[in-house]
Amino acid sequence: MCGIVGIVGASPVAEQIVESLRRLEYRGYDSAGVATLENGRLTRVRAEGKLKNLAAKLQEHPLKGAVGIGHTRWATHGRPTENNAHPHATDRVAVVHNGIIENFRELREELTARGHVFKTETDTEVVAHLVTDEMQKGHSARDAVAAALPRLRGAFALAFIFNGEPDLLIGARQGAPLAVGWGEGEMYLGSDALALAPFTNTITYLDDGDWVVLTPKGAQFFDASGLPARRAKVQTQASAFLVDKGNHRHFMAKEIHEQPEVVGRTLAHYLDMSSGAVRLPFELPFDPKTLTRITISACGTAYYAGLIAKYWFERYARLPVEIDVASEFRYRDAPMVDGGLMIVVSQSGETADTLAALRYAKEQGQHILSVVNVQTSTIARESDVVAATLAGPEIGVASTKAFTCQLAVLACLAVGFGSARGALDATREAELVADLISMPGLMAEAFKREPQIEALARDLAKAKDVLYLGRGTNYPLALEGALKLKEISYIHAEGYAAGELKHGPIALIDEAMPVIVLAPFDAVFEKTVSNMQEVAARGGKIVLIGDARAKHESAVPFFATIAMPDMAPDFAAIPYAVPVQMLAYHTAVVMGKDVDQPRNLAKSVTVE
Ligand code: F6R
Repeated sequence: MCGIVGIVGASPVAEQIVESLRRLEYRGYDSAGVATLENGRLTRVRAEGKLKNLAAKLQEHPLKGAVGIGHTRWATHGRPTENNAHPHATDRVAVVHNGIIENFRELREELTARGHVFKTETDTEVVAHLVTDEMQKGHSARDAVAAALPRLRGAFALAFIFNGEPDLLIGARQGAPLAVGWGEGEMYLGSDALALAPFTNTITYLDDGDWVVLTPKGAQFFDASGLPARRAKVQTQASAFLVDKGNHRHFMAKEIHEQPEVVGRTLAHYLDMSSGAVRLPFELPFDPKTLTRITISACGTAYYAGLIAKYWFERYARLPVEIDVASEFRYRDAPMVDGGLMIVVSQSGETADTLAALRYAKEQGQHILSVVNVQTSTIARESDVVAATLAGPEIGVASTKAFTCQLAVLACLAVGFGSARGALDATREAELVADLISMPGLMAEAFKREPQIEALARDLAKAKDVLYLGRGTNYPLALEGALKLKEISYIHAEGYAAGELKHGPIALIDEAMPVIVLAPFDAVFEKTVSNMQEVAARGGKIVLIGDARAKHESAVPFFATIAMPDMAPDFAAIPYAVPVQMLAYHTAVVMGKDVDQPRNLAKSVTVE
């Protein structure tokens, strides 16, 4: 995950920027750089590798400017070379960026046709050229940024400085965090409060879609539509804690909102964004071509991630998948084919049943691949290959960002295996990779529904029972939705495959029963419409989480609809997880429950 720092003040800032970047090292990076203005002109120093390389270069060529931006880069588009390191610059503007610009190829083509010359493999460079293009039309720096931002698709945070503008620093946030720090005659931008802690504890967090204009005297905030916005100052304790809640009430809310960023980071670890192919960051001790079946085992939310992945491995890699909850699998005496692959999925990497399932599979001569968030955990240590989820520490007991990062890793594995086995050709692989790259941006889009979800939560909080329905990969997501709601709000909830409704659960439906239907307009949508009609005929209150077409084509009386952006159906379960999580979260908050530490639950279940 890249780190961003910016300072605008009265004295040289380069040293402070490097000090602040040190506090972002925990996010992981492979190159770094700083840009300032010297005598009004943009100057950059960048280095491959760790910050000590950058610091050594800065000793040789000290930068004197009083406005500057700094960056630690976690390579996504293009190798971790000095040339690809941020800041990226033209003769007008320098920019640092965290996240992914999804439409960089289109923009690059458009700008190249207009005479812009690109020098790096990165997606970020298009931002510098896009802003430059606007400035060449005669716009001020600030108007150029305002014009450029709506043209960018994806999840990102950005910081800009401009040639000849020693008192100007601009930041923007869409789906990746960015905070403003308030100093005396000096203002700061940082990826999080930790980066700003050496300078100030007075912070303003940007809302999604916001951008901000900083001068040494203060900050002016604008919302996504470009209108001036008021954003509150908060006091942080960031210097003392490595993990804080930011401007969120609960860790769970913070972790839900971190998802575009951490899913983007996880995808970048497994995909070559530039060529549109899967690039696994490890050697496999087996050849996917020789596999005849995969077994997946896990518990709770991690199990549901595995259940979604079953659809992907079967569809893309043409491999049969056996999946079971670990507490059952470990005692089943399941016969396993020698040399087969066992995938275990676990956030903590310490779950006792999952570990026992792993050990059983190992005894049965299976290769063990674990998808884990804690890479020093027992499950990671006992695996042949560790496919890391890069979600960062998950503090809320209810798993959110670990779940979507597990899905991101499993999707990459399924597509990678599909291509290795010849089940997917390069064109289809590139299409699926492009769909995956769009996931963080779509998740960020889903946050726009939060006020509506909050209102809906007030109704849901009155329910005694809730039913979740879905088909295909939305069936396991329905199970996850029900689990999320019951574990933090204590409302009884069940998830069902929509086609199972009339085999029993339909008996439960009456006017008091909310039925949450997860249904994008996909190949099985029409079948789900029939199920919704069965619910409507019995007075059930249907809440549709679906796209505009799903709403339009269904002619069912909805109690409420949560409109999701249009997307290819393949990996829709990843962005659809966001409203499902937000609905559970807000319902529990309305009910005054202890969201981060629900009763009876532990974060790491190390007993049977
Ligand atoms: C639910 C939840 C649990 C965990 C399960 C497995 O929100 O967090 O269901 O998913 O206890 O834990 P890990 O992934 O640590 O093995």
